[in-house]
Amino acid sequence: MIAELDALQTEALAAIPTASDETSLEALRVQYLGKKGSVTLLGAGMKDVPPDQKKAVGAKLNEVRTAMTDAIVARQLQLQAEKDAKAIEGIDVTLPGRNYGGVGTLHPLTQVRDLAIRTLRRMGFILADGPEIETEWHCFDALNTPPEHPARNEKDTFYLHDGRLLRTHTSSVQIRTMEIAKTLPIRIIAPGAAYRRDEIDATHLSVFNQLEGLYVAENVSLAELKGTLVAFFREIFGAGTAVRFRPHFFPFTEPSLEIDVKLEAKGKDARWIEIAGCGMVDPAVFSEICAKRGDKLFDPEKVTGFAFGMGLERLAMILHGISDIRHLIENDVRFLSQF
Ligand code: DAH
Repeated sequence: MIAELDALQTEALAAIPTASDETSLEALRVQYLGKKGSVTLLGAGMKDVPPDQKKAVGAKLNEVRTAMTDAIVARQLQLQAEKDAKAIEGIDVTLPGRNYGGVGTLHPLTQVRDLAIRTLRRMGFILADGPEIETEWHCFDALNTPPEHPARNEKDTFYLHDGRLLRTHTSSVQIRTMEIAKTLPIRIIAPGAAYRRDEIDATHLSVFNQLEGLYVAENVSLAELKGTLVAFFREIFGAGTAVRFRPHFFPFTEPSLEIDVKLEAKGKDARWIEIAGCGMVDPAVFSEICAKRGDKLFDPEKVTGFAFGMGLERLAMILHGISDIRHLIENDVRFLSQF
């Protein structure tokens, strides 16, 4: 039996290193070491081996199995290495990798928003937030906007089936903030999306971004409103920038003003550009808040406040001389990589 085992080993160790692929290697394993393989079958004859030879035959059997298994594993590794080498044949792995465009930058709108937030935080404003799906009360009624006001028209505002709407301005965050305020003063800013059923063109999108501000305390004055916003716009557009306030109308402020800044586009004469709306919070808004809260924290006889709102896209466009608002949402790298 030892001689037979030796013969099988010699035969197998000659065949295994020349197996041309995984399949023929596996066939050889089955042929020798499989359940009905020749080594296995010989091993089954152990029971007939005389007791004094059992030890020697057993050792031989193990030796043969180990030798064949080692040879098979060695050939497997060899075949895999050949396969790997083929796979990268002709590829120079020492070449530098391809450049896919490098590190990006913050979107111009994000940059302008962050600049505005940074500036106003230094003046003591903190961030506030509110939902984009709003109730009519938060978006209009509480802001002293009567049912017949054109902004409430179905043609101008996206309404949901349940009567709620996509907020048309961030002014609703004023209401959200005053509803839950615990003490005065409050001094908040709220950047965020607003929605209008506008025809999309070079200056209009149906989704855009605004930045709202609100300051409420005792004895807040129009002078503070002007001082704050002049300082803000000079921080954004440069120290010497001329800022003017024009009388206007908003339902939720009295008086209401529009703000223009005087800027010159490259090679053109300086001109006034409308940039924001603002005003002193209308006492009717405070009354509505008092009724909703059931207390007198916002007693219109005691508190005053100013509010302002501006479009962030517009700010970015003026700041960077962007002529079409749609550039800001098209994600064209040729445009974005300029900022
Ligand atoms: N909500 C106004 C708009 O969308 C902007 C605005 C004007 C906000 C006056 C204010 C404000 O807070 O006081 O056009």
